Amino acid sequence: MAQKVQFVETVLRDANQSLIATRLPYEKFEPMLSTIDKVGYYAIECWGGATFDVCLRYLNEDPWERLRKIRAAVPNTKLQMLLRGQNVLGYSHYPDDYVKLFVKKAVENGIDIIRIFDALNDVKNLKVAMEATVNAGAIASGTLSYTTSPVHTHKKYVEMVKELKEMGASTICIKDMAGIMGPQEAYDLVSAIKDAVDLPIDLHTHSTTGLAFMTYLKAVEAGVDIIDTAISPFSGGTSQPATETLAYALRQLGYEVDLDDTCTKKMADYFKTVRDGYIADGTMMPKSMATDTQCLTYQVPGGMLSNLLSQLKQMHALDRFDEALLETPKVRKDMGYPPLVTPTSQMVGVQAVRNVLDGQRYKTVSKEIKAYCRGEYGETPAPIDPEIRKMILGDEKPLEGRYADTLEPIVDKTREKLGDLAKSDEDVLSYIAFPNLAEKFLEERKAKEENVATYTIVEA
Ligand code: CO
Repeated sequence: MAQKVQFVETVLRDANQSLIATRLPYEKFEPMLSTIDKVGYYAIECWGGATFDVCLRYLNEDPWERLRKIRAAVPNTKLQMLLRGQNVLGYSHYPDDYVKLFVKKAVENGIDIIRIFDALNDVKNLKVAMEATVNAGAIASGTLSYTTSPVHTHKKYVEMVKELKEMGASTICIKDMAGIMGPQEAYDLVSAIKDAVDLPIDLHTHSTTGLAFMTYLKAVEAGVDIIDTAISPFSGGTSQPATETLAYALRQLGYEVDLDDTCTKKMADYFKTVRDGYIADGTMMPKSMATDTQCLTYQVPGGMLSNLLSQLKQMHALDRFDEALLETPKVRKDMGYPPLVTPTSQMVGVQAVRNVLDGQRYKTVSKEIKAYCRGEYGETPAPIDPEIRKMILGDEKPLEGRYADTLEPIVDKTREKLGDLAKSDEDVLSYIAFPNLAEKFLEERKAKEENVATYTIVEA
């Protein structure tokens, strides 16, 4: 029997985020939802930190309402979200009561699969979210943030995968957020994980460096079960490789791909028009569609390179770019080789720029790097350089154990504080995640409702 390969469609989340900064409003993709539901995808990735943020900040949409509407229109396909472990949707750690309630409500509102990752691959930061997902009856997809360094060996990844299984993971995701995984690495890592656990494996990568098609192919040869792709008009560049292309090539090679081509064609036609609109208004920039191999040379994700550039530009120091670029891997080494993913990528990048511009290393240190050295982001892959840690923390002792254990519960007191502004637990959760944005959203909603109420009374 032919080996079967399943697909996760990313057009609503990662492709949308990578190419047009998550600006797709609900109405723009609503007409395609019933078609998407008929394709035969393993899952549709549709929700995550950026979706939440942009819904509240720019689109004036309630992210929970968006999820419920997608759920109603997509009854037959699993809906997937991305969750940053103990960070949930944000950039720092939250108390456990918030993590648990968030997961419970996400599942109640329609999520089937929660892909749970930690920027440092510290499993202690995944545990509460994993357990809450299993308790809510959803699929916990235990995720490893892929990076390369002297301490990121296959042996270590396999150990992590075994721990994720213990914690209740029913699938494993290898998350290559920067698109730096090559075909041979994919083959070897998938093989190593397949040998160690009998769980379905999902590989997630980006087309940024142009490796992705080859990487997926070799991963499939090693037995990967699921790959993440984007419908062609929203594929390539910083997004995922195209769904239809992979379906075509894999079928030709004798693999079983159960996707409905009439439906993907319909989706491609529709999203082509949507994309052209974003190209015309400048939201989708040619740069994000291009292949960029710099990340392979510097082992720095593409997004980080552009952040470095814009930081230096602001400080009128663009001529120091090469120095900052050379300093980045050094800072990463000092910090114990964190994978460069949000938020560690920003922290390392900002520090590298400081070190270069100050002309002295670690003369100025951000409060995030201080917190990182204190252990507030979790255990680092390798120990932080002890001398540098001493320089940053002085006599202050770093934390032992899990930072979230030191945090007070937050849900009940936030509910009390919000009073009648919050109509549901979902409102409270939105507020905890993005206080300023959610407050503005909830106040506007309240004002709108009061206007409607007054109007109704006048009418009567
Ligand atoms: Co991604």
